[in-house]
Amino acid sequence: MKKYAKIRKMMERSCQILGSDYAILGGAMTWISESNLVSAMSNAGMFGVLASGAMDGDLLKNEITLTQSKTNRNFGVNLILMNPKLQDLIDACGEKKITHVILAGGIPDKELLNKIHSYGMQAFSFAPSLSLAKRLFRHGLDALIIEGSEAGGHVGPISTMVLLQDIMLNISEYPVFVAGGILRGELFASMLLLGAAGCQLGTVFACAKESIAHENFKKALLRASAKDAITPVQLDKKFPVAPVRAIENLGTAEFMTKQKEVLRKFENNEVSLEEGRLSLEHFWVGALRRAVQNGDVERGSLMSGQIVGVLKEEKSIDDIIDTILLEAENFLNKIKETIER
Ligand SMILES: Cc1cc2nc3c(=O)[nH]c(=O)nc-3n(C[C@H](O)[C@H](O)[C@H](O)COP(=O)(O)O)c2cc1C
Repeated sequence: MKKYAKIRKMMERSCQILGSDYAILGGAMTWISESNLVSAMSNAGMFGVLASGAMDGDLLKNEITLTQSKTNRNFGVNLILMNPKLQDLIDACGEKKITHVILAGGIPDKELLNKIHSYGMQAFSFAPSLSLAKRLFRHGLDALIIEGSEAGGHVGPISTMVLLQDIMLNISEYPVFVAGGILRGELFASMLLLGAAGCQLGTVFACAKESIAHENFKKALLRASAKDAITPVQLDKKFPVAPVRAIENLGTAEFMTKQKEVLRKFENNEVSLEEGRLSLEHFWVGALRRAVQNGDVERGSLMSGQIVGVLKEEKSIDDIIDTILLEAENFLNKIKETIER
């Protein structure tokens, strides 16, 4: 019998949707989910997702070509809806025969989903509420990802535990993947038992051996405890700021100063809400790059989820997957014994 037969059986349908061996998505991480990490993920049997961040169409095409030269397995591309080059990015994915596009940072409209489908690509997206999720599926969305506030990077205000009950358990006819605070195989198996199509993990792969993130970045994450991964507070309701979870350092303090500056400019009509938000976005992207590429762990952004508290060592992607599958299979065996006792 094949190793990990039970958990493999539970993943079968989703693996067909993804074209992978395991229903584990490597959540896109700006500056980190590049060709090396993403190809290594897909080669290991999971589903890698390339981050396009603030790229334009040509840059993305190059990164896709590079990734395709390192793997012939499927991988997805994460597109940020507020990127002004979004249409070019979709064309780039279509021309490069990408199979799955993962839309983040907003709610895609029907027209956008139609455009993605016209290239034969599947569209995945996030939604913060059941009504929005249902509308997205009515508009043709292929799969939903619910991401709880425990996750790293840009997060919503609601925990994975509540999103599961508010959204996922009320959707049975479409695939729903779960993200945010998941690492152990027992939890992965529990999500599948509850009806999830699979799980998306981010932080653990930022610290994987194959991740190109700077050693300082990885060490800071591996040393941190869960309570260190905070979302800086919003200064004023008039100027809503997307919460971004990162380990507290000088960079998170500087974000507060930046927020004050943007708020002042907004109140003096020097910038619009959109411009102000965009400048805060650029602040995060730049700060993340400094930490990931230059190893500046003092003033760069150490974006990571609360799961850092559980993460203790740098492992290879193969090891990470194998541990999850082993823990999941043992857990399913234990459940079977308990029920049949
Ligand atoms: C450093 C970092 C950067 C991220 N960048 C992005 C991004 O560019 N686009 C996106 O959709 N999600 C981004 N995320 C979220 C991840 O894709 C993933 O959903 C999340 O990390 C899952 O939660 P976990 O960290 O608890 O596993 C980022 C997360 C981290 C830790």
